[in-house]
Amino acid sequence: MVSVFLFVPNLIGYSRIFLALAAFYFMPSSPKLATGLYLLSSFLDSFDGHAARLLNQCSRFGMMLDMLTDRCATMCLLVNLSLLYPRYVFLFQLSMSLDISSHWLHLHRSVILPQIHPGDTGLVPSLNIHFFQLLLYCSFPICAIKTAISVIHLITAARNMAAMDQAEGEQGLASRKQD
Ligand SMILES: *[C@@H]1O[C@H](CO)[C@@H](O)[C@H](O)[C@H]1NC(C)=O
Repeated sequence: MVSVFLFVPNLIGYSRIFLALAAFYFMPSSPKLATGLYLLSSFLDSFDGHAARLLNQCSRFGMMLDMLTDRCATMCLLVNLSLLYPRYVFLFQLSMSLDISSHWLHLHRSVILPQIHPGDTGLVPSLNIHFFQLLLYCSFPICAIKTAISVIHLITAARNMAAMDQAEGEQGLASRKQD
């Protein structure tokens, strides 16, 4: 079997990282080029998921790669927006915190412990929303929807995690860990 690192969706993932890095490198000097690079990176995001399913090359590594690229790109964009609009820094900080915490919990719930929800592919259902990321942080309605999804993910994942803790405690696993 071909190495997971060489799966086609993961190769697309590497190119997304490269494009995003280039976008942020050029952002201060050539905003238009940067926007193009960023949009291309976001656009490829809807590609790698399809490629993974089509070629039967879904992998945990690929999901992590995808997720981390998205999160880091979002963070970097919000840093830029914070510098551009210092008045709204607090909003951007809230947005970053929600973005990280909701995806963190959601990903751990779906990737690390997939047996809890058999049949759940663990793929985050908001891939297409990501394509409009630039729009997202500029237009309120879409931003509100994305925020609502994040809040739901955060609450759902937190409840699932707590349920796992509860179940483990009842099976005596929690006490075994402390030995
Ligand atoms: C943020 O982006 C804008 C528009 O592309 C650009 O003018 C500005 O220099 C950027 N700032 C940083 C720190 O990248």
